[in-house]
Amino acid sequence: MKVGGKHFRTIWREPNDERVVQLIDQRFLPHDFVIEEVRSVEQMATAIREMHVRGAGLIGASAGYGMYLATLEATRRDSFDEHIARAAAQLRATRPTAVNLAWAIDRQLQNIAAGKTADEKIALALRTADLIADEDAEHCKMIGQHGLALIEQIAETRPNKPVNVLTHCNAGWLAFVDYGSATAPIYAGHERGLPLHVWVTETRPRNQGSKLTAWELGQHGVSHTVIADSAAGHLIQRGEVDLVIVGTDRTTYTGDVANKIGTYLEALAAKANDVPFYVALPSSSIDWKMRDGLKEIPIEQRVAEEIKDANGWFDGQQIAVRIAPEDSPAVNYGFDVTPRELVTGLITERGICEANEKSIRSLFPEHTP
Ligand code: MRU
Repeated sequence: MKVGGKHFRTIWREPNDERVVQLIDQRFLPHDFVIEEVRSVEQMATAIREMHVRGAGLIGASAGYGMYLATLEATRRDSFDEHIARAAAQLRATRPTAVNLAWAIDRQLQNIAAGKTADEKIALALRTADLIADEDAEHCKMIGQHGLALIEQIAETRPNKPVNVLTHCNAGWLAFVDYGSATAPIYAGHERGLPLHVWVTETRPRNQGSKLTAWELGQHGVSHTVIADSAAGHLIQRGEVDLVIVGTDRTTYTGDVANKIGTYLEALAAKANDVPFYVALPSSSIDWKMRDGLKEIPIEQRVAEEIKDANGWFDGQQIAVRIAPEDSPAVNYGFDVTPRELVTGLITERGICEANEKSIRSLFPEHTP
């Protein structure tokens, strides 16, 4: 998508050097646009763990390229296979909640194993990494087309008034390789010329909403307003929200949705006020092994400093200021689980389905056991 009018993906290979992966380092947005060059598994693991890159689809694509870098490194080691296994374990341990991480690593391990020589394995890893990235972008584009129909339906019922969409965190193009999941229908509607307005929750503690989603939408000229997370219920209750679309880091095959902390409360408010609550996701975010989201999905806990500090830009640099008493303990849950009963539908690359096993499997019959 666009930055200053120029098209960017979130991750790509350096065009003049196949051994280098480039990515947008999101820690500095919206104030500074920094491109990081990644040359090793170690560096890629740090980029994922420290959230230079984040968001389910992008974490998967980054892991895919991380495994490709691992094959390049492996040719310089005693045991090629041992290095690949170590790299897979290192990348897998970076973040627990987004299932795209394990999905991409497993896909790479399977494909790399099919190569007979080191050169073949490298070529397969490169092809797989590019495929994971390209598919992610393509699937998000399709999500946009399917989700557009929902926005069009609402727009028809209220001519000349903007459709108000509420989204949480950043499930935009910065969370994927391109287009985004929750934002893809918004971008498609905007391109179609539909009147649209987006409520962007700031998404404490790391503010992916106010820092990333607001920046993205602004770059594309989409009308939006940043709100405190705690204002979402108020706006939903007052009829100021026509539709909620959020992303997900992992959705069980039964339709339970893990997403950034705060999503569950928004889903409750939407249900109580009959506002449709949709989750947009590529199938790479479906966990085909997990049945019960509440019991089984691992919820990341991050450092307390993210809660006790506010982080922002001052005098040309990133600073943190303390906003809680020094001695008060804080706990920092990264995600919550919205049970399927609260979800109106899932917008996938193959169409929209209900958040239940039967409906999900009907779109993805190849995953029927
Ligand atoms: O902690 P993050 O920034 O990696 O969290 C992921 C998210 O941005 C959200 O949970 C998002 O809504 C789903 S990921 C597309």
